[in-house]
Amino acid sequence: MTLPEPVLKLENVRKVYTEERVPVEAVRGVSLEVRPGEILGIMGPSGSGKTTLLSIMGCILRPTSGEMWIRGRNTARLPERKLPVVRREEIGFVFQSFNLFPALSALENVALALRIRGMAGREARAHAEEALTKVGLSDRLRFLPKDLSGGQKQRVSLARAIVARPPLILADEPTGSLDSENGRQVLALLRSLARENGSAVAIVTHDHRVSELVDRLFRMEDGRLAEQHANHEEVRPS
Ligand SMILES: Nc1ncnc2c1ncn2[C@@H]1O[C@H](COP(=O)(O)OP(=O)(O)OP(=O)(O)O)[C@@H](O)[C@H]1O
Ligand SMILES: [Mg+2]
Repeated sequence: MTLPEPVLKLENVRKVYTEERVPVEAVRGVSLEVRPGEILGIMGPSGSGKTTLLSIMGCILRPTSGEMWIRGRNTARLPERKLPVVRREEIGFVFQSFNLFPALSALENVALALRIRGMAGREARAHAEEALTKVGLSDRLRFLPKDLSGGQKQRVSLARAIVARPPLILADEPTGSLDSENGRQVLALLRSLARENGSAVAIVTHDHRVSELVDRLFRMEDGRLAEQHANHEEVRPS
C-alpha cells in the first residue's frame, strides 16, 4: 500500500530570530511529514519553539533555512507576496485568543473565511451557518463575540477554521483560555471536524489530555522536535 502524499513536509527547518542584539535559535533542524487526516499534538516547555514552528508551518514566518512543502508546493522558496495565498487556500488557523472580529457576528466571522476566498455573500453565509450548526451554535448566529462565552468563541473560531475545508489546520493552544470541560469539548470537536474533512491537524498544547486525542504526539525541547511513542509500556515492578 502506498501512503498518501503528505499535506505538509518539513526538511531540516531552522529559524533564527535576528531582530534582537542576541540572535535566538528558536527552531533547530525540524523534519516532519504530515499526511491527510493525521492529527498531531506538539507539547513542550515555554520558549521551546512551538509557536515559532507552527508559524512556519502556517506560512506566517519564513524559515531561516530548510525546506517546506504544502501539498507538494515548496513554500520555503515562494516569494513573500505569495504566502497570503497559501495561507488562505491551504490552512485554517485556531488561536488561543480566538482572533475573532469584534464588530462582526459569529455568522459573519465564519462567512468571512469564505468571502476572502471569493465566495458570494449568500452562499458564504449558508456554509457558515452549517459550520456553526456543527459546532453547536445554531442559536448564536447573530451574536457578537463579546456576548459569547470563551468556549463558544473558540467554537466559532473552529467553525471558521474548518468552513473552507482546508487541507491543513493549525491550532496554537486552542484550549489555553478555556476551563477544562470546555477545553475537552473543543479538542474533541476539532478532532471530529478534521476527521470529517480529512484535514491534517497540528495542535500545540500544554494540555496533557490532548495525548488521548492525537494520532502522533511530539515533544519540542530547545528548538528540536521528537516524536513520543504512545505505546511504550511502563515497566511494572513484579
Ligand atoms: N520575534 C521574536 N524575536 C526574537 N525572539 C523571539 C521572537 N519570537 C520568539 N522568540 C524567542 O524564540 C523562542 C521560542 O519562542 P516560541 O514563542 O516559539 O516558544 P513557545 O514554545 O511557543 O513558548 P510558549 O509555550 O510560552 O508559548 C523563545 O526563546 C522566544 O523568546
Ligand atoms: Mg507559544
